[in-house]
Amino acid sequence: MPGRFITLEGGEGAGKSTVMERVAQWLEQKGRRVVQTREPGGTELAEKLRDILLDRNNLVLSGTAELLLMFAARAQHLDERIRPALARGDWVLCDRFTDATWAYQGGGRGLPREHIEALETLVHGDLQPDLTLLLDLPVELGLQRASNRSQADRFEGESFEFFQRVREAYLERAAAAPGRFCVIDASRKLEDVWAQIHVVLQERLVS
Ligand code: TMP
Repeated sequence: MPGRFITLEGGEGAGKSTVMERVAQWLEQKGRRVVQTREPGGTELAEKLRDILLDRNNLVLSGTAELLLMFAARAQHLDERIRPALARGDWVLCDRFTDATWAYQGGGRGLPREHIEALETLVHGDLQPDLTLLLDLPVELGLQRASNRSQADRFEGESFEFFQRVREAYLERAAAAPGRFCVIDASRKLEDVWAQIHVVLQERLVS
C-alpha cells in the first residue's frame, strides 16, 4: 500500500501538537506505519536550521535569508526523511510544510510570491501533501492560548497584524486547493475538533 503525506497547519495556539498525537495514534490503530515529523526541522541538520530560525536573538536575519533557510531545511528533510518514508509505504504526518511558508513568509512578511513559487518548484515540484488539515481560529484566541507557553520565539514575538495576515494567507491557500485542504474550526473544544478530523481521515484516506 502506498504511503500518504499528511500536513498540519495553523497559526499560534491552534492545538496542532495535540491533534498530531491523536491522528498518529488513530492511524497506527488502523495498521499504518506512521512517521511523525515537523518543519522547520525533522532531521539533525534541519533542526540546527530551526534553531537559527527560531532564535529570538537573531533579529538581523533578513526576510530572504529566512525564506532560503526554511527551504534549505525542507530540502534536507525531504531527501533524508520524507521521501524515503513515503517510498517505504509509511504515512508521514508533518507539523507544518510549504503552506506555512506561503502563510508566514508570504502573508506575514509580504515576500514576493514568485520567490516562494520558484523555491517550491525547485525543492518539491513533484510532491504535494495528500491532505492538509488547517486548524483555523481567530488570532486573538490563538495568541491568548499561546501566551501560556514558555518564552516566545522569533515568530511568536510578531505583531497581531502579522498573525492576521498569516491567517488570511492560510485561508486563501485553502480556498485555492479545496481538494487537498480541510479547514477545521480550532476554536472549539478538542473533542469536537477531533470528531471532525476523524470523519475527514475516514472519508478521504482510510476507507
Ligand atoms: P511551530 O511553532 O509550529 O513549531 O513552528 C515554528 C515556527 O516557524 C512557527 O512560528 C511558524 C514558522 N514557520 C515559518 O515561518 N515558515 C515555515 O515554512 C515553517 C515550516 C514554519
